[in-house]
Amino acid sequence: MTRLGRVPACANIRQVIDAAAAALAEAGVGSPRSDAELLAAHAAATDRGRLAFADTGPEFCQRYDELVARRAKRVPLQHLTGTAAFGPVTVQVGPGVFIPRPETESLLEWAVAQQLSRRPVIVDLCTGSGALAVALSKHWPDARVIGVDGSRSMIDRARVRLGTRADLRVGDLLELQLDERVDVVFSSATFHWIADHDRLFSALHAALRPGGRLVAQCGGEGNIDILRGEARAVIAGEPYAEHFAGWQAPWNYAGPEQTAERLLSAGFASASCWLQPAPRQPEHAREFLSTIVLGPHVQQLPDELRDRFMDDVLARLGEPVVVDYIRLNIDATA
Ligand SMILES: C[S@@+](CC[C@H](N)C(=O)[O-])C[C@H]1O[C@@H](n2cnc3c(N)ncnc32)[C@H](O)[C@@H]1O
Repeated sequence: MTRLGRVPACANIRQVIDAAAAALAEAGVGSPRSDAELLAAHAAATDRGRLAFADTGPEFCQRYDELVARRAKRVPLQHLTGTAAFGPVTVQVGPGVFIPRPETESLLEWAVAQQLSRRPVIVDLCTGSGALAVALSKHWPDARVIGVDGSRSMIDRARVRLGTRADLRVGDLLELQLDERVDVVFSSATFHWIADHDRLFSALHAALRPGGRLVAQCGGEGNIDILRGEARAVIAGEPYAEHFAGWQAPWNYAGPEQTAERLLSAGFASASCWLQPAPRQPEHAREFLSTIVLGPHVQQLPDELRDRFMDDVLARLGEPVVVDYIRLNIDATA
């Protein structure tokens, strides 16, 4: 018996996977069958398509049992397998490394549908895990793809994982230092951290060759308004208020018209910008909110108040927790 109490024996891998999928479904995991198979492949050190031939001895059973139990507690699948699929590439992930997000994947889909010159120079700005940079170089093997990020530790970790698969550099996106003007700048999930969008777009315009494209996505006007409203109500009361005196939320969620005007003022020849609601129900809501969406709030509080703050926000949000993301899409030509 496994700890989950459902797997009768480990002799038949199909039965074991069926039982694991049932246990994950009962625990509320969104894609139980797929997760059960991916975890089995990981435990057996094989591919998902070769599971029928896997060695399912006692070691496999114990490993699989533990993985399924942790997944049932909503540890992200990618952190259990150590990898995440991103378009045509598999990237190594783990604590402290961004799991490539669905929005970045949609940027990749858009990118690969474009006609580009034969040997384009492409920048993935604020590349994070480097996943987009690698996927782009795989799609355009003749392209020169440069991944830039302001965080040295992020780039160092990406270099270890990606080796020579991408040209990775440390740099601030407001002061881009490239050896030549480039054909395309992609950027996902970062511009809302930049307060001065006029300066940002001037720097990006200067980096692009005439006719070059800027394609980006970030949080836009109205992003997480509901969530932030609930957090605001909580921090206005005791015992939190004193820790937020004079505090300014760090995000810059711009609107599409305002952004298009700024791009044109920065010298872009044309700019198309639009909002896209993208609500998401995070699997591990408390961890997701406290580390990502409400991370800046939590950081503002002393350790002893952080859990209580999250309890209070979650109580106001109720179940299920939905993060009211609104994306700002940008497609501009220099
Ligand atoms: C939310 S992550 C997005 C990573 C990746 N683009 C993705 O979609 O998974 C934001 C990234 O922007 C980088 N960043 C933030 N401010 C920056 C700046 N001023 N210059 C360069 N990189 C910056 C951070 O280090 C981080 O890797």
